[in-house]
Amino acid sequence: MKKILSVALVILLIIFTNPAISAQLGIIPKPNKMVELTGKFTLDKNTRIYLDRSDQEVKRVVDDFRAFVKIPMGFEIRYAGRLPQSGYIGISIDTLIQNKEGYLLMVTPEKVIIKANSPTGIFYALQTLRQLLPPGIEAQFSGKKRWDIPAVEIEDFPRFEYRGFMLDVARHFQPVEVLMRYIDLLSFYKINHFHLHLTDDQGWRIEIKKYPKLQEISAWRKESMVGHAGDKPRKYDGIRHGGFYTQEQLKAVVKYAQAHFITIIPEIELPGHSTAVLAAYPELTCFPKKFEVTPDYGVFEDVYCTKESTFKFLEDVLSEVVEIFPGKIIHIGGDECPKTRWKICPQCQERIKMENLKNENELQSYFIKRIQKFLNSKGRNIIGWDEIMEGGLAPGATLMYWRTWLGDKHIAEAARAGFKIIMSPLDPLYFNLYENEEREITPLAYPGLIPLEKVYNYNPVPLKLTGKDVQNIIGVQANLWSEYVKDGKGAEYMTFPRACALSEIGWSPQASKDYADFIRRLKINTSHLDLLNVNYSKYFLK
Ligand code: ACM
Ligand code: ZN
Repeated sequence: MKKILSVALVILLIIFTNPAISAQLGIIPKPNKMVELTGKFTLDKNTRIYLDRSDQEVKRVVDDFRAFVKIPMGFEIRYAGRLPQSGYIGISIDTLIQNKEGYLLMVTPEKVIIKANSPTGIFYALQTLRQLLPPGIEAQFSGKKRWDIPAVEIEDFPRFEYRGFMLDVARHFQPVEVLMRYIDLLSFYKINHFHLHLTDDQGWRIEIKKYPKLQEISAWRKESMVGHAGDKPRKYDGIRHGGFYTQEQLKAVVKYAQAHFITIIPEIELPGHSTAVLAAYPELTCFPKKFEVTPDYGVFEDVYCTKESTFKFLEDVLSEVVEIFPGKIIHIGGDECPKTRWKICPQCQERIKMENLKNENELQSYFIKRIQKFLNSKGRNIIGWDEIMEGGLAPGATLMYWRTWLGDKHIAEAARAGFKIIMSPLDPLYFNLYENEEREITPLAYPGLIPLEKVYNYNPVPLKLTGKDVQNIIGVQANLWSEYVKDGKGAEYMTFPRACALSEIGWSPQASKDYADFIRRLKINTSHLDLLNVNYSKYFLK
């Protein structure tokens, strides 16, 4: 009996002292270091916030948090003028913390201490705090008066500086509210780049004042495809579809994103995927004719011609784009550009001769470098899909690697050549592919399967890379192409919880990977998403 008691005591001791056997914490992405302590801090109307220095941006971040929790708490957390003895949340900038996005969060029964190198770190600490609070913190009504936060010590910073998500708003236009909601949700998971795919064959979504036909014509198509693109015959819905964001709306999105420490990456596709533009300005292609904004999906052969007037158009467009988006990098597409028209176009052939180029691949490279030079003159740089490497690339460009089938060797060469790379491989980071095999409960999606576990287990650093080349992998991004995604709810289903796995790939150390632990945390964490009414896939619960 005595023996049984002492064994039970040892087990209890292990449970209460071993941080690996975690209680109820469901933080995503998993913090770098976390030790669970005993007890809890209780937040109530007597709790005060103490800011140790007056920093405008820190105050703004904290005020946003106070406004956010005021709704469910039914009271405001007030500031203390002097450092209280206990019962407070102390927030300060501490430049001894190395990583500019890193933070320390210490919760004890007496107080909560948050330290970070920058306002970004303070914001991330508050997102972690939000995940430690009961999920009712996401509710739109006042619930209880006392809010418990488990005692814990966290030291946290990201693995990669670029953690991104792309939403294709060209194939299906998404209202501004959908973008704002994405900013809320992505920043909750410490994702810091939101890439908007604004232009494609099926629609142009950004107001350009100098070219009004982009709004009048390129933003609208007469119908959309229903069923899979591979269906024979293809079927269409006969319903006009489209829309575009005004510059004012996009500036508001940028501002909202900045407040959430997210950089918006706008993508203006060139030289391919330009059918929607050609419907309005057919003179920009090699062999002008009547084009329509296409309801079909795929790769189209009529692309921008390399004549001077095309560059004039694109430079005018990009001049307006840089006025809206202050981020250092502008995405210029560069993928899937057939060279068939260039091969027989007198003006493109003349350009090849004039510029001493070997072939049409080098002509594409000329195109990209010229746009890069223009954006450099505006103080920006380019990012493009990995095709922009072909035919040579000017230094300073960032590659977004998507063509999985080329293998790691291809990307290792680019890293060795010194290019910065964001890993965004089709397999496993294209969230437009099915997440599960239950076709009867899943909306129509792009053929192919990318399960949650496969996303979670992805390591963005190819094994072939060693030494300082590893540093050239600056981050990771998942993409949601929207051929089959009609609205915000449909987008959420494809995005979550795979974006939770993405956030962990981008933030948490590779060595701490543990899928079973991730699922355990996800089950707790999604109670926040439930209250936020996020339409996430529940397949992981099976
Ligand atoms: C791509 O999927 N065409 C970048
Ligand atoms: Zn041409």
